[in-house]
Amino acid sequence: MSNSISSNFNYLFKYIIIGDSNVGKSNILTRYTQDKFNEQYQATIGVEFGAKNLTINNQIIRIQVWDTAGQENFRSITRAYYKNSVCAIIVYDISNRDSFNSIQNWIEDCKMQSPETVHLVLVGNKCDLDKREVTKEEGLELANKNSMVFFESSAKDNINIIEIFNKSAQTIYDNIEKGFYDLNNENCGIKIGVMNNNNLSNNIQLDNNNFGPNNFIEGCCR
Ligand code: GTP
Ligand code: MG
Repeated sequence: MSNSISSNFNYLFKYIIIGDSNVGKSNILTRYTQDKFNEQYQATIGVEFGAKNLTINNQIIRIQVWDTAGQENFRSITRAYYKNSVCAIIVYDISNRDSFNSIQNWIEDCKMQSPETVHLVLVGNKCDLDKREVTKEEGLELANKNSMVFFESSAKDNINIIEIFNKSAQTIYDNIEKGFYDLNNENCGIKIGVMNNNNLSNNIQLDNNNFGPNNFIEGCCR
């Protein structure tokens, strides 16, 4: 798995992270892109940006992530970033029932603003905490109801963070092969890079060995 950011890529996938304030969106991003975690809460003002490259079947995929502020007063700014997203990661905090109760609204909001083809991922973060208010089963049920992939994660203990991005990137890559997106239209959230040789193969292989098709509810938690 390549961690370097290059201006050259085969495909760029545009992601957005949404969810209530304080659920850990920014730390999921910094854990993924920089392997960093910040104990001190620093509210995101508007939108922040991060990116990381990964390799799928010898194709360089640049994951470009827009991390949005959960605070209500930034909502009009952050909504503008839903457009052109190929993937939306919708996050709640397993120790905060209110953040879980908000998820349906985030899903509806996302469906209204994003392309029809957007890939939705539900994440119950902070699964390292003993103080749990939302069970894993409730998260899974909500995800199934909305045809979403589900993970519990911990940005703090680095549980399932890479898997969130690897699994979604593989699904999107797989969908490209199936002709699911109109790649001539960048509004689908995928940009074709200069390195692309259109040599897509059926044999998709992520370089990260600990990634598997059924691991989205494994590895975490109590
Ligand atoms: P906004 O920017 O306001 O929308 O918040 P956010 O969702 O980006 O939350 P942020 O990543 O800033 O994290 C909020 C607080 O939760 C911080 O104090 C983090 O240290 C803490 N936190 C984030 N992820 C985890 C986690 O996995 N486990 C635990 N225990 N704490 C976490
Ligand atoms: Mg934030």
